[in-house]
Amino acid sequence: MLTIRPLTLSDVLFAMRMVESAGWNQIPADWERLLWIAPQGCFLAEWEGQPAGTATAVRYGMDCAWVGMVLVDPEFRRRGIGQGLIGHCIARLKTMGVRTVKLDATDQGRPVYLKQGFVDEYGTLRHVGRFEPARVPAGECRIEPLAPRHRQAVAAMDRRAFGADRSELLTVLAEQQPDRMLVAAKDGLIVGYGLARPGRLHGYIGPVVAERMDAAQMLVAELGRRVNQQTVFVDTTALNEPWCRWLEGCGLQAQRRLTRMYLGTNDTPGDPSRVYTLSAFETG
Ligand SMILES: CC(C)(COP(=O)(O)OP(=O)(O)OC[C@H]1O[C@@H](n2cnc3c(N)ncnc32)[C@H](O)[C@@H]1OP(=O)(O)O)[C@@H](O)C(=O)NCCC(=O)NCCS
Repeated sequence: MLTIRPLTLSDVLFAMRMVESAGWNQIPADWERLLWIAPQGCFLAEWEGQPAGTATAVRYGMDCAWVGMVLVDPEFRRRGIGQGLIGHCIARLKTMGVRTVKLDATDQGRPVYLKQGFVDEYGTLRHVGRFEPARVPAGECRIEPLAPRHRQAVAAMDRRAFGADRSELLTVLAEQQPDRMLVAAKDGLIVGYGLARPGRLHGYIGPVVAERMDAAQMLVAELGRRVNQQTVFVDTTALNEPWCRWLEGCGLQAQRRLTRMYLGTNDTPGDPSRVYTLSAFETG
């Protein structure tokens, strides 16, 4: 009764219906970006021929792949569709030789992933609110728009922090949001980068990766000014308490906690202390 087929551009309307029914923040451009970076990794579940759910798996080389957008129509839940979608993603990634599969699990999703053998890595937090950067340090960094000459340094910094090569994702994000992709420079060196994008309910600030917290603060403050929505989502790891306290001091509240989980070796975990904000729950 369950079949899983590739999700295509013509399914984005259905995919957005799933996003809306779960109260998530993605817009069609987010699905289009996923289809662009993972054209073979976006899936649609059909139950007796009717569209019933979605899942995506973005591969970052062989080090790691990120599973996201696991959404089942409320009318079709608890029939094994969620398990079927995640099992399909895992089987495909294993065949390709990907060493680690990761995701950020909601409380609803976590039992499904535990059954598939995923284990917890650490918590991630979603902050939401009207961002008023009250206490930005008079930093020693300069914030400027990303230029082609910065790309290599940004990709290398991101790889050290994230643990896998996200350069293709960053390129597409920068192309979609050319005015909202910034770098922090100090003494001619790139010490951070960040970007923002629109969302269905709130603007989204992320990813922000930096060598130092003052660079991250300056980046987020400037990105907050460039988001044309009244309120923003900022997703972080739960590991960096001073950073989360700073966000709260800027008017954001921790709204929900998710669990970052992995399946496989997790042999390139990166350095989460440099990841100030996530790129999205569906891409890491
Ligand atoms: C999470 C979600 C995808 C699960 O989809 P689903 O099709 O209902 O899942 P399944 O039917 O495959 O359930 C798998 C198993 O997990 C268990 N399970 C599912 N949801 C559960 C819940 N909320 N609490 C406890 N156990 C749960 C079921 O008992 C089932 O076990 P079984 O196979 O032994 O019966 C669906 O609830 C959903 O779309 N939620 C909203 C979006 C979301 O949070 N997605 C996860 C993002 S990480």
